[in-house]
Amino acid sequence: MAEQRVTLLQGGLVVDGSAAPGQPGDVLLVGERIAAVAAPGRIPAQLLAGDVEVIDCSGKVVAPGFIDVHTHDDAAAIEKADMLPKLSQGVTTVIVGNCGISLAPVVTDAPAAPLSLLGSGQFRHASMRAYAAAVDAARPGVNVAALLGHTALRMRHMPVLDRPANEAERAAMAADMQEAMDAGALGLSSGIFYEEAYAADVPELVAVATVAARNGGVYATHIRDELAGILPALQEAALTARQSGLPLVISHHKCAGPANWGRTRETLPLIEALARGQEMAMDVYPYTAGSTVLREDLVDGVIDILITGSKTHPEMGGRYLKDIAAQWGLSQQEAARRLKPGNACYFQMREDDVDRVITHPLSMIGSDGLPHDERPHPRLWGAFPRVLASYWRERGLLQLEQAIHKMSGMSARRFRIGERGLLAAGFMADVVVFDPKTVRDGATFEAPRQFSEGIEKVWVNGVLSYTGEARAAVARAGRFVRRGQGMPPSV
Ligand code: ZN
Ligand code: CU
Repeated sequence: MAEQRVTLLQGGLVVDGSAAPGQPGDVLLVGERIAAVAAPGRIPAQLLAGDVEVIDCSGKVVAPGFIDVHTHDDAAAIEKADMLPKLSQGVTTVIVGNCGISLAPVVTDAPAAPLSLLGSGQFRHASMRAYAAAVDAARPGVNVAALLGHTALRMRHMPVLDRPANEAERAAMAADMQEAMDAGALGLSSGIFYEEAYAADVPELVAVATVAARNGGVYATHIRDELAGILPALQEAALTARQSGLPLVISHHKCAGPANWGRTRETLPLIEALARGQEMAMDVYPYTAGSTVLREDLVDGVIDILITGSKTHPEMGGRYLKDIAAQWGLSQQEAARRLKPGNACYFQMREDDVDRVITHPLSMIGSDGLPHDERPHPRLWGAFPRVLASYWRERGLLQLEQAIHKMSGMSARRFRIGERGLLAAGFMADVVVFDPKTVRDGATFEAPRQFSEGIEKVWVNGVLSYTGEARAAVARAGRFVRRGQGMPPSV
């Protein structure tokens, strides 16, 4: 048998991802797995025979590598395979294919919006199996688990998108869903907020989601409306999941637009009520700005809008729409029309709403980072350390154990990722060591590509892959992660 790498993480505060209180302890990594977690000095001696690399973790927190449940890293995992924006935050697994947008199974050189969010160079995988093989071949810096995007299926199988799918188109989408589940996908995502999927009705979604349900999958959705119509949009998502028989995750839950501020007081009780009758959770990122394609209908003249990129006027990237509009002597809507196609950050949320969602027991953390934006929203590089710094250390809105649970154990359970998300013997050795006194995000809207502070070491599948000292990926050990088998149905 080949000699296995043995690493002892000694004397840290072990926060295991389950939300249980942290305890001083030692964690032993052998090969790609966690071999033991024990009180200080109590790792069985026979496990420590031979060459052991000892890492002093005193004063540090040892936690499961974070799971970013909401990403658009489908193509980045292949073409920007070091995955530094994620690895440098302590993230060891990303879930791709969110918001209805997935690379597989679309083959094109010229992806239309919203698929273009994933860049244009990687639409070459006609099946989830082919995508999984491409991820494994790229050996990215973090693990990759995938949802199949409903909008991608529409764009693949429908000649026009302004109507619900017909019988034959539903059957074609369902066949792709089956292929994806066979290849290990976690389930289905949708983004019926986007024009390209807005005409989809509940029967169309159920036809596809039922296939995911039969195979133990989940359903994540960017709901139809996050503004005035948010309550019916939540009901629609819950109905779709109920009729299909699968667990639901509401993507990046928010109340957008000034007229909607404060309404998490209505949405969260609705989600709680629904969650009593069906499995339901949500993801959230710790910022008051969202980011997506530039759309005039999101320009209300009230909120600040930062242009992060424009095809027609690239020189305007990094400037606020109101300043551009003033310079051009146009209304903001007219200026937005001129800047299209483009991307923008919309300061469309209020902090008390974001705080309420992040501290809610049904939420977990997903960055929603956009790795192909020229000036990405800072959530791409900073979301996870920002939760630790702002929500735990500075404002005390979450306990450390809760914050970590929302980034690891809960995420793995909700999305059916087996053997990850906890520090426990037998689990895969995805681990982060960070300094609780200094951990914080560095990325800002002005300077969005900044390393976080305090993330000291990150292991992926037992391989040391990032060090804060080097501020670099020191290895790439990620792989395509298949849906966990035999996971408990309730979380
Ligand atoms: Zn979305
Ligand atoms: Cu998204």
